[in-house]
Amino acid sequence: MKGKHIVLGISGGIAAYKSAHLLRLLVKQGAEVQVVITPNGKEFITPVTLSALSGKPVVSEFFTANSGEWHSHVDLGIWADLMVIAPATASTIGKMANGVADNMLVTTYLSAKEHVMVAPAMDLDMWAHPSTQRNIATLEADGVEIIYPASGELASHLVGKGRMEEPENIVERIREYFGRAGSLSGKKVAITAGPTYERIDPVRFIGNYSSGKMGFALAEECAARGAEVALIAGPVALDVKSPRIRRIDVESAVEMRDAALREFADADIGIFSAAVADYRPETTAGSKIKREKRDNMTLELVKNPDIAAECGAAKRPGQFFVGFALETDNELSNSRSKLERKHLDMIVLNSLRDKGAGFRTDTNKVTIVTREAEKSYPLKSKREVAADIIDAIQL
Ligand code: C5P
Repeated sequence: MKGKHIVLGISGGIAAYKSAHLLRLLVKQGAEVQVVITPNGKEFITPVTLSALSGKPVVSEFFTANSGEWHSHVDLGIWADLMVIAPATASTIGKMANGVADNMLVTTYLSAKEHVMVAPAMDLDMWAHPSTQRNIATLEADGVEIIYPASGELASHLVGKGRMEEPENIVERIREYFGRAGSLSGKKVAITAGPTYERIDPVRFIGNYSSGKMGFALAEECAARGAEVALIAGPVALDVKSPRIRRIDVESAVEMRDAALREFADADIGIFSAAVADYRPETTAGSKIKREKRDNMTLELVKNPDIAAECGAAKRPGQFFVGFALETDNELSNSRSKLERKHLDMIVLNSLRDKGAGFRTDTNKVTIVTREAEKSYPLKSKREVAADIIDAIQL
């Protein structure tokens, strides 16, 4: 952690008293810490304590009273290698999830370029409230890492979930993050994501329900670990966050194949997470096909290229390629034969039988299959699944 720049955000909950200890531990490990505190946070812990421990003036307001000096949240966001918000109250989490930048902490969050961790702390009913859970899910989908609260006695004397994780454990998570952070630096990763649309005429297409969320989560995770990422995306309603991701938008399988042959050739890691249409209309009508009197109509379809198989056939030694599979029967044996046929090194098996897994959800439950072994994982957020997949890759 030596020399790492950490912005420690503190919001107004009783657990703020633990933030002083967290700050002390981070400084002891050699991190440079800038505290940003909300106005309510200052009611729970004094900035004097925090500035003494961090060796830097605490930032809370947009301007310093009297001098009128402006505190640049943009500069702070760029300076930070990591932002940790501990404790994060229900209110701060809600503001972050919705971009309500009415204080220095949330404004800095919106400017943060690197990884963000949030350690919620609140009463059990507030934690369990659907609104809090919705906001947490939004933050996770935005790529924020949640350090989930522990169960135990709360300041209200009620017992349940909502206690901020202990500072020692938060430090451990931060150390793990910095351990991962540079692990892919200097590497190129190419990823296909989302569905493909196969045109029938100017207003119609054949498509599928893929949202692209898994592929985008993989792209963000690889970028967070220092890789340069080429993300070849079919038509999806998702945005890229990291500046290390170069997005190439395509529509059809043929367009995706052309981009993939270019981008996968020099990639150290290739991940085929797109749900590519197996067939496309043989011809695309130049103008809208009219409804006719007859009750049936037939579309002639032709086979699309198998992008993973084509890139796999051109794979060079040292490249590691990952495919996805969604099987209903004989999952493992089909995955293993796909591994061979497409020259892949790993298959991530989604099971449609599992609730919360597969298309359009924010969660996934996978089995990672290699030539030597297979390992099943519990239901997790797609970002966490992405981390498991990258951890399993052996370069
Ligand atoms: O053969 P199947 O469709 O089950 O294989 C799934 C894997 O192959 C996925 O990784 C998917 O992205 C990839 N694939 C592809 N091009 C296709 C079909 C599948 O890249 N035309």
